[in-house]
This record gives sequence, structure tokens and C-alpha cells, in this order.
Amino acid sequence: MKLWGGRFTKPTNQLVEEYTSSIQFDQRLVEEDIRGSLAHVRMLGKCGILRSEEVDTITNGLQRIQERVLAGEVEFSIAHEDIHMNIEKLLIEEVGTVGGKLHTGRSRNDQVALDMHLFVRRCTVDVIQGLTTLRQTLIAKAEDHIDTILPGYTHLQRAQPVRLGHHLLAYVDMFGRDVERLQDSYKRVNTLPLGAGAIAGSTFPIQREHVANELGFSRLYENSMDAVSDRDYLVEFLSCASMIMIHLSRLSEELILWSSEEFGYIELDDAFCTGSSMMPQKKNPDVPELIRGKVGRVIGHGVSLLTTLKALPLTYNKDMQEDKEGIFDTVDTLMGALALTAPMIEGMKVNKEKMRENAEGGFTNATDLAEYLVTKGVPFREAHAVVGKLVLHCIERKKSLLELSLQEYQSAHPLIEKDIFTRLSLEVVTDAREAGCGTARVRVVEAIQKKEKEISNE
Ligand code: ARG
Repeated sequence: MKLWGGRFTKPTNQLVEEYTSSIQFDQRLVEEDIRGSLAHVRMLGKCGILRSEEVDTITNGLQRIQERVLAGEVEFSIAHEDIHMNIEKLLIEEVGTVGGKLHTGRSRNDQVALDMHLFVRRCTVDVIQGLTTLRQTLIAKAEDHIDTILPGYTHLQRAQPVRLGHHLLAYVDMFGRDVERLQDSYKRVNTLPLGAGAIAGSTFPIQREHVANELGFSRLYENSMDAVSDRDYLVEFLSCASMIMIHLSRLSEELILWSSEEFGYIELDDAFCTGSSMMPQKKNPDVPELIRGKVGRVIGHGVSLLTTLKALPLTYNKDMQEDKEGIFDTVDTLMGALALTAPMIEGMKVNKEKMRENAEGGFTNATDLAEYLVTKGVPFREAHAVVGKLVLHCIERKKSLLELSLQEYQSAHPLIEKDIFTRLSLEVVTDAREAGCGTARVRVVEAIQKKEKEISNE
């Protein structure tokens, strides 16, 4: 007999049962569901809606079910559709008909909303923790590589030399914004929907504040119809997750490029790479490749939920059951990626010499030569043209700017003097970028300290 079987004259078609049930995946909410029910039944007691013996019986019953679930003794059934009705059915088996009082003043509509808020709230904290660990790892690596200089790229063409520490700190800031976004969405996740009933509120003198206090919610939904139909907080979580995955994919892509023979900037730890079944020499960066690849599914879950929600009339519609698998898969995908990226960064070996060699090539100091002329009063546009010609001159002679003679410089422009040879070294070029957010050593050292402090205050 179904918990809602009263008005039905036929058993549910087997295919319908399979098609509509969600227990296959929403059993993942078992802990949240029981926790929510415990808070609900205690509130019913405090408000005099249930007698205290009834509350005790139901509470003990729920706790026993929780233990049985943890011990792996419980088998859920699609005949009871979802986690909410499976637990209620188990409760009635466990404590008898009094178990049927648990659902007083509550609907699965506000119940499932509560479970999902509890679940996503916990995941939000876990993701923030994962981001923090990753940021700390990146800062530690940045600290080791304040004086490692590599070419910075635009269009993937060598542009200007930067300190590796500076490059890694860019990711620290990207992941820092991700933390901020999650902290902001947390306010909306941390809002209690229970008490909305099916749609219109409750005829019982419930006090939602008791439930909010017990479960640590800092706000309550103010409109019952909004409470049961809101899935914005899930869209927000998926959107934050997509952004984080995109950031992780950009980092992954650089690790993949940098560990290619062609770049040769880093070597990933053997424990984080795999081999080829045919080519004995191969060491493949599968982990960053997979992280890069898995972005698609996370963005997909976000698009999928938005599409589900589009034009849905108020309030609860069964369509909303489709919100869960995408959220669960997103959490697993994201937590996996975060957990792997931190040790991968920690264990990578950096080839400083190769980075330096490439930074010395590619005329990454050409802008500095032009700016040198600007400080002598030459208009920037004119200086740009002079240096462009000089670069062409170097390319034809297979020389770098530092390999030119003073004579060659002066025939390009009479205002160039011999101090140019120190001005164009990698250290001077990076340290010249002292203003604001640049790659000068002092700025990088300062940024590391600032980020460390930021994280310890979070
Ligand atoms: N399994 C449902 C879901 O995930 C729970 C809410 C069902 N409510 C209802 N009235 N059918 O959305």
C-alpha cells in the first residue's frame, strides 16, 4: 500500500513506478532527510502539536533507522518512490502507527527543499575548504618561485617576462573570487523552506524558528510558494561550480602545455601520470586532461537545470526532481578535481633553466627598450617603430637584443646609451614593473604576504 494510496483504485503501473521514482539517486540525501525529520518532530512537540511520548518514540525510531542505514542494513524500494517516503515507511514499520504522525504539517515539497538546502550547504563549505587548500598550495609554490622567471604569453606568443610566483598568484586570485561567490550564495542556501507545507503554509501552530535554530539556518523563506518552488540556490551552486571548473581547466591546460617536451617547463610527479599501453616512452598528464574534459559535464548540469526551470509554473512540479543527479555529479566532479589539483601542483618539478632560456628569447624585453626611449622623451609610437625595426634586424642576424652592439643600438636611435645592457636583463625588466599589480619582486613578495593573511582571516 502506497503512503498516498487512499484515493487510488489500481496499483501503479510497473513502468510508471520505475519512471517516477527517485530513490535510486536521492538515497544520497538520507542523512539530511533524517536530520530534517528529527528537527521537525521536535518542533511539533515544542508547539504542542504532538505529545512528548510521541516525539520520543518517533525520535528514537528515526535514530534507529539512521543506525541501520549506516550499518548498511536498510534496503530502499522504488515502490516507495523517494527517500522521504522510504524513511517514513521504515519509521512506521519500526514504531507502529504513531510513526504516521511525523508528516503532520509537512509536505514532501518543503521536505525535499529542506534536504537539498542542507546538502548544498554542506557541499558549499566543503568546496570552500577545497579551494582554500588549493590556494595555500599555490601560494607555497609561488613562494618557492619568486625568482624563477618565465615568458608571460599573450596569444600564446612570448610577450613579457614574469616571475613564476606572479603567474601562480593569478590563480590564487581567481580561486579567491570563487570563494567569495560561494560565500555570497551561502546566504541563500542557508535559508529554511520547511513550514511552507505543500504550497500554502500550515494550519498547525508551527514555529519555524525552532527548526531554523536546530538546523542552523540564519534566514527563513518569507513566502510559502517561493519556498517550495525555488531552485535558484541550486543554479547558483552549479554556476559557481562551473566557474571553478573553468579556472581549474585553464590551470590544467597550462600544466599540460608546460609538461610537453616542446615547453619543458615542468615535470608532473610520476604518481600523477599514466603510461601508454603501446608506446613505452609515454608519460601522459591524464589528470589535468580529465579535469579539462570534465568541465563539460558540470556546465551541462547548469544548462540542464536552467532549461528544466524555464517557464515552470509555480509551485512544485515533478520536473524539479531532475535537479538532483546533476547536483550530485557536480559535487563529485568538482571535489575530485580540487582534491587532485593541489597535490599535483605541490609535487610538480619546475625546470627554471628552461623557463629562463625561453624568457631570454622571443624579444620579451622589446617593450622595455621602447619605454627606455620614452623616458628619454621619444613619443611612444615612434619608439615602438624604432624597436620594431631593431627586432627585425635581430631576427635577420639570429641575435637577441642583448647581443647587439652599442653601435647597432645607436644607429637605430642616437639616444640609446650603454646603460641599456643592464636595463634589458630579465631581473631588471620584471622589477621595473613595480607599479600596482605588476610582476616586480617586491610586489610578488608583498602579494604572497597579503594572500596568506587573507586566507587566515577567511
Ligand atoms: N522526489 C521528489 C523530488 O525530488 C520529492 C518531492 C515530491 N513531491 C510530490 N508532491 N510529488 O522532487
